Amino acid sequence: MLEQTVQIVSNARDTDSYFRLVLRAPQIAPLIQPGQFSHIRVPTLKDALLRRPFSIFQVEGDTFSILYKTIGKGTDALARMGPGEELSVIAPLGHGFTVPKRGGETPLLVAGGYGMAAMYLLAQRSPQKGIVFVGGRKRVDILCEKEFLALGWDVRATTEDGSHGEKGLVTQPLLAEIGNRKSEIGNRKLFACGPTGLLKAVGKIAEEFNVPAELSMDEHMCCGVGVCLTCVIPVKVDDGWEYQRTCTEGPVFDSRQIVWAEGK
Ligand SMILES: Cc1cc2nc3c(=O)[nH]c(=O)nc-3n(C[C@H](O)[C@H](O)[C@H](O)COP(=O)(O)OP(=O)(O)OC[C@H]3O[C@@H](n4cnc5c(N)ncnc54)[C@H](O)[C@@H]3O)c2cc1C
Ligand code: FES
Repeated sequence: MLEQTVQIVSNARDTDSYFRLVLRAPQIAPLIQPGQFSHIRVPTLKDALLRRPFSIFQVEGDTFSILYKTIGKGTDALARMGPGEELSVIAPLGHGFTVPKRGGETPLLVAGGYGMAAMYLLAQRSPQKGIVFVGGRKRVDILCEKEFLALGWDVRATTEDGSHGEKGLVTQPLLAEIGNRKSEIGNRKLFACGPTGLLKAVGKIAEEFNVPAELSMDEHMCCGVGVCLTCVIPVKVDDGWEYQRTCTEGPVFDSRQIVWAEGK
């Protein structure tokens, strides 16, 4: 993990309110593992003290990129920055996904919205190509489909309004796939990133069909480096449960470890 001032290579609109930010970070880029994140200080933000966490999307040469949605003051300020400007970044952070071994399980990835960003490196570095189930409210929420297709992955898109792919929730085609190929279950593994409701649904499917699953739990974070305890979640351990930090012990956890909050 390094704290560095890095330069923006590009910061362009992807679709609607989603942007791709490419940063030149020669010392950070080679260290990045799938599912890890970066903690970025936006210097043009009035209250610039608090960093914002973003999954690392792609790594190319001495650069890495993030794919972000503008939803508030930090991401709005970030979207107004341009090439040549500098940002302070701490990365790579957190415990990421376990990359499948060659000849091992076939990965089934499940992503909601910007959750796709956390999945790309896993798909790229997995020796087995699998299926990526991507869901969103509407067409513009289905991100980087082309990139996954270019990797040779099977992409199954779902939108709640039916404007792209199958109409409905992303768990529908996932359930159909698992249900139709029960004989292959022993050789499959689920990986998911997205809203809590989606993660909980994937966790339930994993339990019901006895498939291993790794879930990226993106909680609100302050320090991002294990000090403030803002990001803790209850996690099962041998003799009960304990709070663990999603920024350091996570964000990726084995689904069997997670204690879900009632009604969440
Ligand atoms: C490990 C991790 C990885 C993430 N990866 C990505 C990514 O790849 N792309 C991306 O677009 N976003 C990602 N996020 C979410 C991102 O950090 C927030 O959207 C961002 O911090 C919002 O900053 P803001 O100042 O624009 O919003 P604020 O003005 O701080 O908040 C605006 C609204 O967004 C809500 N919000 C703030 N942070 C989060 C959060 N972590 N999760 C859900 N809602 C939040 C607030 O409650 C508020 O309602 C990730 C979060 C975590 C913890
Ligand atoms: S965000 Fe501070 S401990 Fe995790």
